[in-house]
Amino acid sequence: MSFQLSEKSKKKIDGILAKYPQKRAATLPILHLIQSEHGYLSQEAEQFVAGIVDVPPVKVREVIKFYTMFYEQNPGKHHFQVCRSLSCWLRGAPEIVQMLEERLHVKSGETSEDGKFAITEVECLGACEIAPMLQLNDDYIGLLTRESLDELIESLDT
Ligand code: FES
Repeated sequence: MSFQLSEKSKKKIDGILAKYPQKRAATLPILHLIQSEHGYLSQEAEQFVAGIVDVPPVKVREVIKFYTMFYEQNPGKHHFQVCRSLSCWLRGAPEIVQMLEERLHVKSGETSEDGKFAITEVECLGACEIAPMLQLNDDYIGLLTRESLDELIESLDT
């Protein structure tokens, strides 16, 4: 299957490449751009990027795996990234994950069959002062309790 990208994104990629003396330095902004169009970075995307920045696909995969902001699978319409690092863990992250799994009927690390929900456990998101916390798509939500998590789930547009 060939990799599809909008004409607008292709033009943006040309603009990004023009800014860097070395093509490989454009890897991160190009990955961001593709993820913002597709929602995640497929193997086809990985190979496409490797081709245009002129590195082996494995190098692009390493970058994708290193940064938690990049997704290798469709993260669903509502992507819950629950911090499981120390401060959040001590303040109830495991219960948050369990509650999400029960309420959303999807296991941590997976996306629901209808593509509406996904749960990922991630390392510290740098917001330890509001532990336990999670990131829902682009928003940080902290000081979570069973009640506030319930309200959050109820408020989602499904
Ligand atoms: Fe959870 Fe830092 S430990 S945000």
